[in-house]
Amino acid sequence: MKRIVALLLVAALAAVSACQEVEEGSVGGPEIALSAGGAVAVAPLAVTHGGVGSPPDWSPQCQEAADTALATILATGDALEGAVSGTVIMEDIPIFNAGTGANIRLDGKTIQMDAALMTSDGEFAAVAVIERVRNPIRVARAVLDTPHRMLAGDGATRFAHAMGFADVVPVCPEAEAKFRKRWQQVLEGKAGGGYDTFDWRRAWNFPGPPPDAPATVPENAGPETGDTVGTVTRGGDGTFAVTLSTGGTSITLDGRVGDVPIYGCGSYAGPYGAVACTGHGEEIIRQMLARTVYNLMASGMSTQNAVTEAVASFPPEWSVGVIAVGRDGWGVAANMQMAYGVAGGE
Ligand code: GLY
Repeated sequence: MKRIVALLLVAALAAVSACQEVEEGSVGGPEIALSAGGAVAVAPLAVTHGGVGSPPDWSPQCQEAADTALATILATGDALEGAVSGTVIMEDIPIFNAGTGANIRLDGKTIQMDAALMTSDGEFAAVAVIERVRNPIRVARAVLDTPHRMLAGDGATRFAHAMGFADVVPVCPEAEAKFRKRWQQVLEGKAGGGYDTFDWRRAWNFPGPPPDAPATVPENAGPETGDTVGTVTRGGDGTFAVTLSTGGTSITLDGRVGDVPIYGCGSYAGPYGAVACTGHGEEIIRQMLARTVYNLMASGMSTQNAVTEAVASFPPEWSVGVIAVGRDGWGVAANMQMAYGVAGGE
């Protein structure tokens, strides 16, 4: 029954979007908490998300990132540089789970991040489990200028430092408070995401022992599910680009990699548009979600309907959000709250 309601919703949206002028809406329902989009003829355009689970009051920061991305496109004419600049803004704001605000792993110390980019002419570059850099997306951009497509682990970190990126551990009070809250939940067997049943003590793969129980657990440690930041852009020449950056889910073993740096999963771009996902990476990988959304757009579905259909089809027990820009405009959808920003098209 839920599935039928979702499909009817998609059909209704298809009818509406044909005459929509940057009109935004929200639809209720068990699978879709957010669906928005707008028809925008060819013009520079940027859309950002602050990660599924991010509250609406983070929208000004997402808007700042979208505005920055648009300004960069207008200044450089380059959709990729616009997408990089938008994601850098969010990596530098500690509320977001990326860069400065990246999640802390299970040992209470380690911060390992993933980032990726793709352009409509098929260029792709990524870093995985990179440490000690402020802006992983800038390192992914540097990987694009190498003969490789992805660098991971210590090699990625040493590459970043060799390329002149500062050696900094991106710690902040927001991420530390979130870790204490999540660690307490793990110890109580209430962490979810598989950690309530998983024997993590047996699988422990950090060099040191598990941390002690937190002395204090903050009441207000921010949303537990804020996940990944992303930017999708369209240049004035009709080219597309996407960037994604994440501290990974909270919380994980050493070396865990989610959807973000996996080709076709967290992000995808081609001649029909650019797609950025956020949510439970293990399931996004299984769905090859970004490529799936892109295929819907390439088959003729509107951008807004493609993201809404993808979210409606996603297993509802896992969080997910998708943003996209296409030839017809933009779309945003999520199965829970998600802050986002849109710039351009006027
Ligand atoms: N979606 C981000 C992650 O699962 O790592």
